[in-house]
Amino acid sequence: MRSQSTGVRIAGLGKSLGENLLTNQDLERMVDTSDEWIRTRTGIGTRHIAARGTATSDLALRAAREALTDARVAPADVDLIIVATVTPDMAFPSVACLLQAELGATHAAAFDLSAACSGFLYGLDVGSRFVQTGRYQHVLVVGAETLSRITDYTDRRTCVLFGDGAGAAVLAPGPEGSGLLASVLGADGGGKDLMYLPGGGSRHPASVETVQAGLHYIKMNGNEVFKYAVRVMGDVTLQALAAAGLDVTDVDLFVPHQANYRIIDATARRLGLPADKVFVNIERYGNMSAATIPIALREAQEEGRLKQGDVVVLAAFGGGLTWAASVLRW
Ligand code: ACO
Repeated sequence: MRSQSTGVRIAGLGKSLGENLLTNQDLERMVDTSDEWIRTRTGIGTRHIAARGTATSDLALRAAREALTDARVAPADVDLIIVATVTPDMAFPSVACLLQAELGATHAAAFDLSAACSGFLYGLDVGSRFVQTGRYQHVLVVGAETLSRITDYTDRRTCVLFGDGAGAAVLAPGPEGSGLLASVLGADGGGKDLMYLPGGGSRHPASVETVQAGLHYIKMNGNEVFKYAVRVMGDVTLQALAAAGLDVTDVDLFVPHQANYRIIDATARRLGLPADKVFVNIERYGNMSAATIPIALREAQEEGRLKQGDVVVLAAFGGGLTWAASVLRW
């Protein structure tokens, strides 16, 4: 389904970040890199890393509590929890079930969703259908990641990019013509080898050999991902705007996935969007996969950049390959 007309609004937002800061100067002491290289090639200055003992569900819990408070919704009134993540606490139970118990959301169904960096937007689309059809009143959608747990801190090509955090949104019914106006999802499993985590699943179950071969770390072809990201982020944004009956000139704020400042900049230029309409926080956080967009949205709200009636466009790409864009009228 490509578009909708009934109102599903974001009633509340929340975020949390890994407790420890990892700076470019720290990374200079760990691998052969430099602050100058990282800043010019990625735009990243610092990232937050979860403290020892903090798992993805802990970050998700903090973000979810903030979002529920912001929405003035009690945990017992949540009908469904969707957590988008590629770094769950464990294979099962899902992070969503762990979160349900910790929140005391005793009436909520709960499941995880795997779409890498596009996961939050996939979750937003799926969750909104339950509200749109009247099945549920309140759906909690969380993007939560501890990418530091699957990052090889001896590999300079990847370790400078990632951080840990969680962002959450509460979906609720709203007036027609506002809230989520359109959503487009896409995938191309043919690109599965461009970024992936080989170890720990049924193909390569954890063993001494998989650990020694480094199979429990993110593998990535940075150059190819870069090219694909610039193309697909622009395309999916235009498709979602068309599905909403809008065009680029209608956009008040563009909130793209934050993987590399150069990807954001190239996408914005391709779309003809001026810098003041593009939300960027990658300097402080790096790439937090599914957590990136809800955290950015929360910060845009905190900075007063989400005004009633504004057209806000969210766009992401990620492993899978996956991509997605959503158009909201705030
Ligand atoms: N410090 C210093 N030098 C480095 C570093 C580093 N941290 N990393 C790579 N280099 C070197 C390379 O070894 C290479 O050296 P060589 O020419 O001697 O071989 C040189 O820099 C250029 O490398 P490139 O890979 O061509 O650098 P590029 O400009 O493409 O930047 C980057 C690399 C930042 C990874 C970029 O390609 C990118 O951002 N790609 C997209 C990544 C992305 O979005 N990933 C999403 C992953 S989501 C997920 O997995 C959950």
